[in-house]
This record gives sequence, C-alpha cells and structure tokens, in this order.
Amino acid sequence: MSTMMVAGNWKMNASTATTADLIDSLVAGAGQLSANVEMVVFPPLPYLAQAQQLLQHANIALGAQNVSDKAQGAYTGEVSAAMLKDFGVRYVLVGHSERRSLYGENDTLVAAKFQAVQAAGMVPVLCIGETLAQREQGATLSVVNGQVQAVIDALGVDALAAAVLAYEPVWAIGTGLTASPEQAQAVHQAIRAHVAAQNAVVAEGMQILYGGSVSGATAPELFAQADIDGGLVGGASLDAQSFLAIGQAAQS
Ligand code: PGA
Repeated sequence: MSTMMVAGNWKMNASTATTADLIDSLVAGAGQLSANVEMVVFPPLPYLAQAQQLLQHANIALGAQNVSDKAQGAYTGEVSAAMLKDFGVRYVLVGHSERRSLYGENDTLVAAKFQAVQAAGMVPVLCIGETLAQREQGATLSVVNGQVQAVIDALGVDALAAAVLAYEPVWAIGTGLTASPEQAQAVHQAIRAHVAAQNAVVAEGMQILYGGSVSGATAPELFAQADIDGGLVGGASLDAQSFLAIGQAAQS
C-alpha cells in the first residue's frame, strides 16, 4: 500500500502549554510531507478541544486514546464516541495493550468499543500484540490472529474495511526494544493472510501499522516492509522533530 499513517499516541502526557508547542511545531513541519503520509495525533481527552482548534487548517488528523462502549447516560467518568466525534476526532484507539493489561479490557469490550466508534462515523485503530512470554512460547500468531478474530466474530469481517490495525508487540512498547523489520513483517503478513482467508478484498485494503519503540532511526527499515503501512508511535511522538522524522520515513 502506498498510503502510510503515522499516528502519535501521547498517552497520559500533556499540558495546555505542551499541547500548543507540540502541535504548532507539527503543523509547521507536516506541510512539507508528501501526500501519501497521513499524520494523526492522539492527545489525552481534556486536550481534544485545544488540539482541534490548533489543527483547524492543518493536514494532521485528530485521534482519541479511549472511548466508552456505551452510547450515553448514567456512566460516570465515561466519554462517548459521539462526544469525540463532536470535537473533530477521526480515529480512536481500541484494545491498546495498556488498556487490556492495566484496565482489564477483554476482547468482548474491545469489540464493543470498536463498534461504538464506527457507529459514530469514526475509524477504530485496533491494537493487537503478544507479550514476551507468549512470543517465547511460539504463540505470537495465535494471540494476534485471535485478537483480530474476536472483532470479526462479533462484527463480521467487513467491519475491518473501515478500520486500521496496529500490531504492537507488548515487549516492544516503551522498552526501546523494537521488533526487527523481519519479525514485524512476518506478523503483519500473517495477520493479512488470516483476514484474506475470510475476505481477500478487505485484507488487501487494510492498513496495518507497527508500534513499539518506533523512532526516526528504526522507521525507515520498518516502513520498507511490504505489509507495514505506517507506525503507531508513543514516546517519540512527544517530540515534534522525532515525530516528523518518522513522518518523513513514511514518504514514498
Ligand atoms: P512506544 O509506544 O512508541 O513508546 O513504544 C507505542 C504505543 O504504545 O503505542
């Protein structure tokens, strides 16, 4: 695929001052990127309005890190998909490994959030990935394909036509350990094949991002792999120059 996405997951890191600084620098630099690269930022929820305002005339899309599976009502502390949409959000992360491991989100809840995002007219970014123990047991493909299949079983394979996948090996997130380009490509290819067995057209059109300690140094080789269609970036997305360097690596 020639269309590449470079998505910045800020996690729980921001203030009004850093949001303004970071987005201003990104807007200044992103104008020079070629049209095949879509840059997206995922600030913490309280900064969405500020980010929307700052991104008004920029070619950078807005994303959110989390969403409720419920539509509205008595769910204290939750934020609905419609509310995110109201602030110009286009992409929403679902199933990030930190949500799965620290907040107990299982495949059923992840599928419900995925559906809520699509129902509101936004695009879910479904995150999947194995732990180090699972990789060492040789269970990588069964784990990641199982996480994808849970969404297919709940919503049908066609639901993946309007979604983005992000393969993030848990052992590579925030650790400085990046999967090698060959390791990442092997998993991406296997995920695409798993989906292709159920719908070849959907599999062909699917964007599969790689995530896990992506940096300006590692991005070029990762993005050169046939089945890697961009990156989901944590740490390096908090620094404008590092994030823009990853955007440059995605240019064709
Ligand atoms: P990292 O995070 O780039 O800091 O490893 C990636 C992610 O969790 O999305």
